[in-house]
Amino acid sequence: KKVILAYSGGLDTSIIIPWLKENYNNCEVVAVSADVGQESELDGLEEKAIATGASKLYILDLKDEFVEDYIYPCMKANAVYEGVYLLGTAFARPLIGQKLVEIALKEGADAICHGCTGKGNDQVRFELAIKAFAPDMPIIAPWREWDIKSRDEEIDYAESHNIPLKINRETNYSKDKNLWHLSHEGLDLEDPMNEPMYDKILEMGVTPEKAPDTPTYITLTFEKGIPVALNGEKLGGQAMVKKLNEIGGANGIGIIDMVENRLVGMKSRGVYETPGGTILYKAHELLETICLDKATQHYKQGVAQKFGELLYDGQWFTPLREALSAFVDKTSETVTGEVKLKLYKGNIIPAGMNSPYTLYSEQIASFGEDDSYDQNDSAGFINLYGLPIKVKAQMDAKTKK
Ligand code: ARG
Ligand code: SIN
Repeated sequence: KKVILAYSGGLDTSIIIPWLKENYNNCEVVAVSADVGQESELDGLEEKAIATGASKLYILDLKDEFVEDYIYPCMKANAVYEGVYLLGTAFARPLIGQKLVEIALKEGADAICHGCTGKGNDQVRFELAIKAFAPDMPIIAPWREWDIKSRDEEIDYAESHNIPLKINRETNYSKDKNLWHLSHEGLDLEDPMNEPMYDKILEMGVTPEKAPDTPTYITLTFEKGIPVALNGEKLGGQAMVKKLNEIGGANGIGIIDMVENRLVGMKSRGVYETPGGTILYKAHELLETICLDKATQHYKQGVAQKFGELLYDGQWFTPLREALSAFVDKTSETVTGEVKLKLYKGNIIPAGMNSPYTLYSEQIASFGEDDSYDQNDSAGFINLYGLPIKVKAQMDAKTKK
């Protein structure tokens, strides 16, 4: 018997290897790590996986796919969850799930195993992605089977099985890191009354208080909704996000503290660092304000919310998500141009923009003289536009006692 394990080298997936062997007939465990830009977390991973009992470790470099096929399509949609969460964990999951299936089929594996708890979103996202490509593949989720109930008990298990851990009990937040973001959940954050200990927590940047007293200006160039250059320098997806993470982090940008509604019903509290992503979303939205017509722009806000929900809920590989992506691609055809921003102590302040497709007409909008807009047209427009209000008011006057 052979099991494919989604492996990060963190606490959960480390203890799963010996647990699988103990509980699934000494099965072979093939570990798979998806490199979605978690950087140092990948150091020494192979050694560790083998030492813990895996027969081998695949490290898949998914960084380009992550940016091109997930991050950018979601940013083009302005997809957010509950108004603020930029979905960093959510959009890595379908990609990883799909790759797990590829390896499982190649290895002729009997099951796929993941280390998500039974209380979260990630289990749903992984498993829906697996079902989309291998509808009959058995899935093992140890958290739903074993007696371990807490992270403390996990650490006990690890210690009794001689599994080396980088963490200690105090800094043991549940974290998820990738190119786009870093999430923090658990410990003191579980009480919404507690202000996050930012100085301890933050890894991608600083708090606004610690950001420089002078602003940083940047200019982003977009083509069809995709960022292609920063300050005039052409940058590929990975380089773009990394560079913006540095600049945004240094300026205290993109720190979110929220209570969110998980798919499985509970509310949970998390702190997210998404410095570069926050800049990209903002720049992209600004550009859309001049490139999209009113009706499309307004309709797209509804699409953005739905898109965010689908993503959060693991519904990536679905007809609806694909159809919405087609809408987003179509509407992005004219989202091309430049956006200048001033970054200052956690704020992103617009500092100018233009587009060859701009629908903004200075001549029409101007308070000065112009001959393409006849102010006399407004009188008739308002009469018709206001007709229902007028009729209602007349009726009210007639029926009032
Ligand atoms: N609550 C966030 C989400 O559902 C972050 C989850 C982080 N995942 C993790 N395994 N630590 O997208
Ligand atoms: C987990 O429960 O495994 C992490 C949090 C989540 O999935 O929402």
